[in-house]
Parts: sequence; C-alpha cells; structure tokens
Amino acid sequence: MNILYKSEPERGRIWAALLAELAPEAVFRQWPDIGEAAEIDYLVAWQPPEDVSVFTGLKALFSVGAGAEQFDYAALPPDLPVVRMIEPGLTSGMVEYVTFAVLGLHREMPRYLQQQRNRRWLAHPAMPAAKRRVGVMGVGALGEAVLKPLVQLGFDCAGWSRTAKHIAGVASFAGAAQLGAFLARSDILICLLPLTAATEGILNAELFSQLPTGASLIQVGRGKQLNHQHLLNALDSGQLAAAVVDVTEPEPLPEDHPFWHHPALWLTPHIASQAQPESALRALLENIRRFERGEPMHGVVERERGY
Ligand code: NAP
Ligand code: GLV
Repeated sequence: MNILYKSEPERGRIWAALLAELAPEAVFRQWPDIGEAAEIDYLVAWQPPEDVSVFTGLKALFSVGAGAEQFDYAALPPDLPVVRMIEPGLTSGMVEYVTFAVLGLHREMPRYLQQQRNRRWLAHPAMPAAKRRVGVMGVGALGEAVLKPLVQLGFDCAGWSRTAKHIAGVASFAGAAQLGAFLARSDILICLLPLTAATEGILNAELFSQLPTGASLIQVGRGKQLNHQHLLNALDSGQLAAAVVDVTEPEPLPEDHPFWHHPALWLTPHIASQAQPESALRALLENIRRFERGEPMHGVVERERGY
C-alpha cells in the first residue's frame, strides 16, 4: 500500500512513525516527495495536487477532515472514491465543544459575562434542561454524536436531516417540508450541516425569523452557511439572544469585523474539532483495509448529493 500524504507536515511526521508500527508494509510519502507517481495507491490531503492525472494507479482520495466540500470534483476522475474523515478523536472534540456551548447558552453565560464586565450582581431564573428545546441541523456522524450527551443531560432534543432518523430521545424532522416545524421548537439551534449547494447561506434572516424569539445559535458547520449581517440584525433586534460561532467566511475574519466584539456572540477560530493524529491514522488504515478486502469504506462522499 503506497500512501501519499499532502497536509500539515507535523501530523505527517507522527503518521510516518506510527505507520512503521501499525502497517510496516505501507510506503508512506509526504508531499512533495511523490516518488514514482504511478505507484501511489492512496492520496490523503485537504487539497490534492493540481494535476491528479499523474497518479495513474490512484484508488481513493481521503480528506484529512470531516468535510470534503473543498475538493474540485470536476478535476478528479469521476469514479475515484472520495472519502471524508470519520474518527473518534474528531467526534469527541465536537461533542465537547457543542456540549460546552449548549450548557453555556442554557445557563446564559454570555449574559452573565456581560454583567460581570459591568459589575452587576443580578440573578435570573434558571430554566430546567427538560424545558430547553435543542435542535441539531445535520444528524450525521457528528450530529448524532453530539445529541447523545444532550439527551442524557435532559434537554428536549430534535434533529433535522435530509432523511428521517430513529434516535432514542430525539424527535426527527426531515427535509424542507419539516424545517419550519423543527425551527419553531429550537431554543438552541446547532448547525452541523455539510456545505453543499442546498446548505450555502441557510443560516439567514428567514430562518432566524422561524426560531422562537430569544433563541440562540451554535454554528459549527461551515462559514458559507451563515449570513453575518443577518445574524447581527437578529442579535440586535433580540430575535436571537446569543450565538456561538466557530466557522466564518472568510477565515480569519478581518480585524474590523463586528463579530470580534459583539457582546452576545462568542467567536472561536474554527477549533470546534480536529482530527487527532493517532485515531485518524487508525481510521484511515481501517478504511484502506476495508477497501482492499472489497468491503464498503466509512464516509464515502456521494458526489451527486454533495456530501
Ligand atoms: P455527515 O455524516 O455527512 O452528516 C451530514 C448530515 O447533514 C446528515 O444527517 C445529512 O442528512 C444532513 N444534511 C445534508 N444536507 C442536508 C440538507 N440539504 N437538508 C437537511 N439535512 C442535510 O457529516 P458529519 O461528519 O456529521 O460532518 C458535518 C459537518 O460538520 C462537516 O461537513 C463539516 O462542515 C462540519 N465540521 C466542522 C468542524 C469544526 O471544527 N467546526 C469539524 C468537523 C466537521 P442525511 O443523514 O439524511 O443524509
Ligand atoms: C474541520 O472543520 C473538518 O472538516 O474536519
């Protein structure tokens, strides 16, 4: 198995050492040291080299992240399997971040931090978790995982996806026809959708207006899904009480962007979750072995649906 890796050099060094233990038969090359291009079986990258046609024996392209929208599919052979990253380290990171953000919003931490800045000692009634309705847009590998601890904490949980789901303790809403009903019962809305033609710009004024007044947003999907001005308008009008935003377009934001200092908005620099080198390598190897045994891989992108 010949693997060409083209991403962060530090992770490449860790993978090279781990591979020597876990798959000593593997040949691991790090971009730009491609060796004989025709001998490369698997390419692992955030962005592949411009011309992949030189890799005449290529069997699959693996994304180093959960998203695979960054690839120019027109430049890839139509039958080449493209695989996104599903691995426990990346999933745990997202579970931690979303749980932290939901609890922070549920316990009104943006409001209390503002009070602290103004030296105001003022308690507000606390709402029990069972009365807080949490809605997750995108119930895939990550969306399903973040719902589990939220159900355990007692939140009233729902998910919205393209196809209906059956998850204990989670009300399922599916497709455009059920989006309005899902939004109407989401006090805390979490976006974990992939970026596709259908989800670009989805977090906009029309969507915010369908949420209960005073709802909150956690945006951990992709930057292009969120209309910044519409979010600011919704926060300033009180339609939304607070937002936690991890992904933006562009990244990083310009220095004078209002998100940096809006009192009701917490901004993080696209750190909600990252693939962890060891568990990600184990997941990659498992997928390659599945492929070589003729079994289906986890996370193969369906090009026609866009994720
Ligand atoms: P996934 O397993 O592919 O799940 C995607 C979910 O979105 C599925 O439930 C899918 O519905 C649903 N969906 C897609 N298009 C839809 C539409 N038009 N309407 C309704 N539902 C739709 O993806 P994942 O691994 O959970 O990752 C989700 C996204 O998280 C990634 O694509 C990436 O953008 C983002 N992410 C962000 C970070 C960060 O650090 N901020 C880290 C990792 C990932 P079906 O189940 O019916 O197909
Ligand atoms: C991060 O955003 C990823 O796609 O893994």
